[in-house]
Amino acid sequence: MILSGGIIGGNLKTIQTKNAQDLILFGETFAKENLKIGDKILVTGVMGSGKTTLAQGISNGLGLNVNITSPTFSKLNIYQDKLSFYHFDLYNLQTEEELEELGIYDFMESEDGVSYIEWWDNFPNFFNTPYHLIEIQITNEGRLVSFDTIST
Ligand SMILES: Nc1ncnc2c1ncn2[C@@H]1O[C@H](COP(=O)(O)OP(=O)(O)O)[C@@H](O)[C@H]1O
Ligand SMILES: [Mg+2]
Repeated sequence: MILSGGIIGGNLKTIQTKNAQDLILFGETFAKENLKIGDKILVTGVMGSGKTTLAQGISNGLGLNVNITSPTFSKLNIYQDKLSFYHFDLYNLQTEEELEELGIYDFMESEDGVSYIEWWDNFPNFFNTPYHLIEIQITNEGRLVSFDTIST
C-alpha cells in the first residue's frame, strides 16, 4: 500500500522537484495526463512535505482557477469551477464514522469532480480502487514524488 521502495502497480514513476513551483508544475502535468472526472487521488507525505502545494498544481491542471488553502481544520474544502475539486485533509479525524459524516462516499462517487485526499493513510482500509497514489518525500534536493495508478 505504501509507495516507498516501489511496491504496487508495477508502473511506479518518480520525479524530483526542487521547489514548490516545480511541484505545482508536476501537479498540472499529472492532472492533464492522468485525471478524469470521478477520480480520486490519495496523497501520502509528512507534514510540510507539499501535499497541499501539490493540490494547487492538480487543480490548475484540471482547469480550475482557484486559490487552494489547507483543509486541515475544515477537513474538507470544496471548489467549484469548470468541475468540482473535493480537497480532504483527514489528519484530525479519529474514526470512520467521522469520515462518513463528512459525506466522503457521496463526494468520491460524484460524477462532477475529483477527490484529493491528504492523510488518507490514517484509514488504510477505507479506500477502494481505482485510485491514484502519490507519495511525497523530503530529500536534500527538495521533494521526491512517487506516483502510480491502481486500477484493480
Ligand atoms: N520541492 C518542494 N516542493 C514542495 N514544497 C516545497 C518544496 N520545497 C519547499 N517547499 C515548501 O514546503 C511547504 C509544503 O507545505 P504544504 O504544501 O502545506 O505541505 P503539507 O500539505 O504536506 O503539510 C511549503 O511551504 C513549500 O513552499
Ligand atoms: Mg496539507
